[in-house]
Amino acid sequence: MVFAPDRAACGGALFPSDRGRATGRHRSLMVRRLLARPATVLFAVILSTAAAAAACSSSRSQSNQTGSRVVRGASPDAGKQQMIRYGCGACHQIPGVKEANGLVAPPLTHFGRRGTIAGFFANTPDNLISWIDNPQAMLPGNDMPDLGVTKDEARNIAAYLENLQ
Ligand code: HEC
Repeated sequence: MVFAPDRAACGGALFPSDRGRATGRHRSLMVRRLLARPATVLFAVILSTAAAAAACSSSRSQSNQTGSRVVRGASPDAGKQQMIRYGCGACHQIPGVKEANGLVAPPLTHFGRRGTIAGFFANTPDNLISWIDNPQAMLPGNDMPDLGVTKDEARNIAAYLENLQ
């Protein structure tokens, strides 16, 4: 069986002590004693719910950082050099890329956080690689020309752009 810490933390019981050895008579005594103090019970419920919620939200935000927008095996540094070489900055503003301050195309700031590419395509690594590789095939007639970028170069460039948070 695969160990799934997320599921254990988010879907599991709120009261870990309930799962233990407290069975039968001993357990019902414990419950009765707890129920005699409603404020204690309420406090315990609030605390454990808050702890479970914190565990769930922190595991979710972690998976966002390392998740689906990582371009495997690509080099963002090489991508940066390739964008300088292809002159992407003549048309785009690109944070961290020398002289990339063009104004004729949309700025690529915070690109890793954007939902879409050119307003049409979901911003996934695969779509971004295809766009950089061959924007005219993806959206015929749009204003970004095909620049002859190879697939490997497009992967490196996509890795750089998806890192822009
Ligand atoms: C001649 C100008 C020009 C050059 C050079 C150029 N682009 Fe573009 N690019 C555009 C235009 C115009 C658009 C907007 C297309 C649209 O939305 O229809 C665009 C759109 C994009 C988008 C989508 C932007 C968004 O807001 O969704 C990305 C990503 C992109 N270009 C990357 C690059 C990269 C990487 C290079 C260099 C390899 C490059 N571009 C070179 C003109 C250019």
